[in-house]
Amino acid sequence: MLKYSKETLKRFSEPKFAGEMKNPDSVGEEGNMKCGDVMRIYIKVKDDIITDIKFLTYGCVAAIASTDALCETVKGKTLDEAEKLTWKDVVEGLGEVPSIKVHCSVMGIDALKDAIKKYREGIKPVINDEEECCEEMKNIGKIDQ
Ligand code: FES
Repeated sequence: MLKYSKETLKRFSEPKFAGEMKNPDSVGEEGNMKCGDVMRIYIKVKDDIITDIKFLTYGCVAAIASTDALCETVKGKTLDEAEKLTWKDVVEGLGEVPSIKVHCSVMGIDALKDAIKKYREGIKPVINDEEECCEEMKNIGKIDQ
């Protein structure tokens, strides 16, 4: 059985940034080739500052906890500052991440970088409310992995 830190389990069970965002300025996505899970990050941007951020994912405990921590770190930062964040910056406050789960905790950063790239390229987000995956992804925090 995997051992997670107290902080990781708290983030997982009470994520502050989980959920969909209405009218985001950009949406980034990243898939994890090792497990097939998907991460989606929504951002609102004003004057180059990320004013709001949310995420949805199929991912596991590590993916949810690290992405929630990422969102807290990123909110209020400029796009340039957010883009420079590393995996280490994000998981620093989570205690030890099991080595087998490191790839899960990188998904959020990659999805964020995708959202920033799309925003800069002027690619407008297309959200299909009927997407089946969104219904599944709304259950984050309720799964036991
Ligand atoms: Fe797929 Fe962690 S994100 S197992």
